[in-house]
Amino acid sequence: MRNTPRSSPRSAKSLRTASIVATGSYVPERRLTNDDLSQMVATNDEWITTRTGIKERRIAAKDEQTSEMSAKAALAAMEQAGITGDEIDLILLATATPDMLFPATACFVQTQIGATNAACLDISAACAGFLFGVEIGQQFIKANTCDTVLVIGAEKLSTITDWTDRNTCVLFGDGAGAAILRHRDDKALGLISSHVASDGNYADILWMPGGGSRTPITKENADDHLQTVKMLGKEVYKQAVTAMVKTCRITLEKAGLTTDDIDCVIPHQANMRIIQAIATRLKMPMEKFFINLDSYGNTSAAAIPIALDEANRGGRIKRGDYVLLVTFGGGLTWAGSIVEW
Ligand code: UT7
Repeated sequence: MRNTPRSSPRSAKSLRTASIVATGSYVPERRLTNDDLSQMVATNDEWITTRTGIKERRIAAKDEQTSEMSAKAALAAMEQAGITGDEIDLILLATATPDMLFPATACFVQTQIGATNAACLDISAACAGFLFGVEIGQQFIKANTCDTVLVIGAEKLSTITDWTDRNTCVLFGDGAGAAILRHRDDKALGLISSHVASDGNYADILWMPGGGSRTPITKENADDHLQTVKMLGKEVYKQAVTAMVKTCRITLEKAGLTTDDIDCVIPHQANMRIIQAIATRLKMPMEKFFINLDSYGNTSAAAIPIALDEANRGGRIKRGDYVLLVTFGGGLTWAGSIVEW
């Protein structure tokens, strides 16, 4: 029970609001621990744990594609929502590791979940992709263009990880999370406020330089590891803290809420120290932050929806709670949303 009264959130101007009515997630079975990694590169559990908070991550099987993980997460969300595939109007799939460059991986998911009436597209906004998807999806609902939107964040990062580079290979994992957006008739405000932003000036501090049309992989460059994630960790760390703190403040201000009103923060799951820095700057207790990066590492676009699903199914967030979602990634891209659950 709350001791102090909540501030009143600014009610949405549009009559039709969008809510996250259900969530789902899927992670592959295979666990890769810090000790396993210490057999592969010059690292150890102590370094990884103290610098990142990560203890293990999941690795997809060779034949387990991003689309399949997405479909499993989506089916779990659909079951929770009590809907069938043909009720979905739009599938937005955020990923940096699509099954292939085209067609959109969302189209493969469509066939796997029987979403015969859905329009399908992928979103390329790296780790921030899922919240970009939520923002795009809610616009379709508010505009009355769609009733039911499926937003997925899914990654098979193990396929673009340089397993010889200790600076990056200890950080990432595979998995998928999904959410169903709909208008709810019970006066719930749903998505109260959001903020999405990008800064292409810093594209080269977190990117995968090869494999696209600028630098296709050829016989000549095949051994240069261009089709793997490159990151200037320290620079990304600084940018991440600054952008996510700013985003939290902007979304709170837009919603007319304060940090005291927020029941749960679901931050991007990249590094425990980044989350602690955000908590300190916002003067919020760490207990309000939902954290599962110790189990999954950084799953990029999948991190927020996997955490959201675990928080939802685990009872960490309940109907009526104010939930703050905030993320940051390559592009650079960053985003935040406040949801009345
Ligand atoms: O999802 C998108 C957002 N991504 C992020 O937010 C990630 C942001 N960055 C980070 O989380 C951190 O910068 C890292 C965890 C990637 C690195 O932590 P750091 O405290 O910035 O370490 P560092 O890169 O400055 O490296 C410190 C030392 C270096 O050795 P020297 O040069 O001091 O001798 C590294 O070579 O740690 C060494 N090192 C390692 N040692 C053992 C780097 N990786 C490892 C490793 N094991 N895996």
